[in-house]
Amino acid sequence: MKNHSRVRPLFCFFILALFLSFSGAEISSRAGVNYGQLGNNLPSPATSVELIKSLRAKRVKLYDANPKILRALKGTDIQVSVMIPNELIPNVSASQSFSDRWVRTNVVHFYPSTKIRYLLVGNEILTNPDVGTWFNLVPAMRRVKLSLRKFRLHKVKVGTPHATNVLESSFPPSNGTFRSDIAVPVIKPMLQFLNRTRSFMFLDVYPYFPWAAEPNNINLDYALFQAHNVTYTDPLSNLTYTNLFDQIVDAVIFAMKRLGYPGIRIFIAETGWPSAGDVDQIGASIYNAAVYNRNAVKKLTAKPPIGTPARPGVVIPSILFALFNENQKGGPGTERHFGLLYPNGTAVYEIDLSGQTPLSEYKKPLPPPTNNEPFKGELWCVVAAEGSANETALAEALSWACSQGKGICDPLQPGGKCFKPDSLSWHASYAFSAYWAQFKKLGGTCSFNGLAALTAKDPSMGRCKVPSGRLA
Ligand SMILES: *[C@@H]1O[C@H](CO)[C@@H](O)[C@H](O)[C@H]1NC(C)=O
Ligand SMILES: *[C@@H]1O[C@H](CO)[C@@H](O)[C@H](O)[C@H]1NC(C)=O
Ligand SMILES: *[C@@H]1O[C@H](CO)[C@@H](O)[C@H](O)[C@H]1NC(C)=O
Ligand SMILES: *[C@@H]1O[C@H](CO)[C@@H](O)[C@H](O)[C@H]1NC(C)=O
Ligand SMILES: *[C@@H]1O[C@H](CO)[C@@H](O)[C@H](O)[C@H]1NC(C)=O
Ligand SMILES: *[C@@H]1O[C@H](CO)[C@@H](O)[C@H](O)[C@H]1NC(C)=O
Ligand SMILES: *[C@@H]1O[C@H](CO)[C@@H](O)[C@H](O)[C@H]1NC(C)=O
Repeated sequence: MKNHSRVRPLFCFFILALFLSFSGAEISSRAGVNYGQLGNNLPSPATSVELIKSLRAKRVKLYDANPKILRALKGTDIQVSVMIPNELIPNVSASQSFSDRWVRTNVVHFYPSTKIRYLLVGNEILTNPDVGTWFNLVPAMRRVKLSLRKFRLHKVKVGTPHATNVLESSFPPSNGTFRSDIAVPVIKPMLQFLNRTRSFMFLDVYPYFPWAAEPNNINLDYALFQAHNVTYTDPLSNLTYTNLFDQIVDAVIFAMKRLGYPGIRIFIAETGWPSAGDVDQIGASIYNAAVYNRNAVKKLTAKPPIGTPARPGVVIPSILFALFNENQKGGPGTERHFGLLYPNGTAVYEIDLSGQTPLSEYKKPLPPPTNNEPFKGELWCVVAAEGSANETALAEALSWACSQGKGICDPLQPGGKCFKPDSLSWHASYAFSAYWAQFKKLGGTCSFNGLAALTAKDPSMGRCKVPSGRLA
């Protein structure tokens, strides 16, 4: 066994060398990992880079251009993607000298010893409620490209990652269409830019979310790349799908085609599956996360490449989300459990991003899947991430919840059964639960912009009974 594993990498290297010399392929199919830093317990950049290497990642994507991380990546063979933060997009778009300065400080300074290959302008900007920045996006991308040209950094591609809600229709895939508010004013010039500069359409693709929203309509194995007898044939294109991921990617390909750009390459900027979550979050388990991510790596690193039904045989470079579980991310519990690693560096489950470990060689047994069925017990809607919530936003949400139903917050009045403890967080939890219990039938959700989450633990105290509900 030992000998065997020592011989194989050499052999693979030989094949790879042959492959490279004959095809001149510049895009490695090995997968990468997103290095998010929204945790207060994460290892140092130097340690993190060692962990990235241990996952055999080919690329790493940052959500900024953290100089400590860029220095720690120096001299490694890892291809790096840096990001201009959303809030700087107006500045870049308004000023070439601002763009030049940003590129000099954050890219030129580290290049080429840190292999920066992608410069992403903002993150999921077109889902950002600040509509003003949408129209700065493409001008900012053009300026950044110009800056890179000035510094002769021709290897660095410019792009911007999109959530799949840039589409207004994605089913059937051949009906894929960009949202009408952005299609012509933003997406079209962006596609023109990407096409002209031979860059990529960067996509964040999460089959987990559509499946979790409709677990009774979508087959779980189809979402996990392991359906053997479930397929979907698109009646218009006649293409047959064997997994949800391909359906989503092809919807974007058809949408681009509809706008006149059929050839732009796809780059998976994020994909993943949560290994844990809140009690109402179906299907978030170590088992499902391991199966999804291992199968995604297997598919996306296959040689020869598999592609998708609309583009068979095409390489799709990819970056999994994420390196670590990040305890400071807001929103539902799943958001904090997309990591391949715990913050202490231990793997949540074994995974080899090089794609060179066959599925059958992952040795450690996985814990069995736990919550693939909707939760049936009683639930309460309470403040999520207590202690770290934005107090202003929490106070606004509390007063909004109370204003929705007549008298639903009466017990919170001074002297009321639920007045004590007189804290913002307690009052908000009561109000969120009262709101959700009453309005969920009418489509009310337990979200409050990510301030709230469902729990199966009854928060009631003393004489105060907090209203509860059940999932439909
Ligand atoms: C970006 O522009 C805004 C608005 O003009 C300005 O307040 C801010 O200081 C600028 N940011 C930087 C880093 O220059
Ligand atoms: C196709 O997309 C359009 C909007 O882009 C939508 O109105 C229509 O319902 C979609 N067709 C199907 C079959 O879903
Ligand atoms: C996209 O780029 C290709 C290759 O450079 C070019 O042939 C094609 O005309 C471009 N498409 C559009 C719509 O500009
Ligand atoms: C698919 O195959 C599995 C296992 O062989 C079986 O349990 C399941 O009923 C089949 N599903 C369909 C839709 O045929
Ligand atoms: C769709 O594919 C099937 C099987 O390959 C074929 O028989 C059929 O003619 C095709 N239909 C269209 C509309 O292309
Ligand atoms: C790392 O953290 C995980 C999750 O908290 C824990 O289960 C595991 O035991 C820890 N490993 C080490 C070596 O501390
Ligand atoms: C807190 O929430 C308020 C109101 O929603 C918002 O204006 C403010 O920017 C938020 N502060 C932080 C630090 O996110």
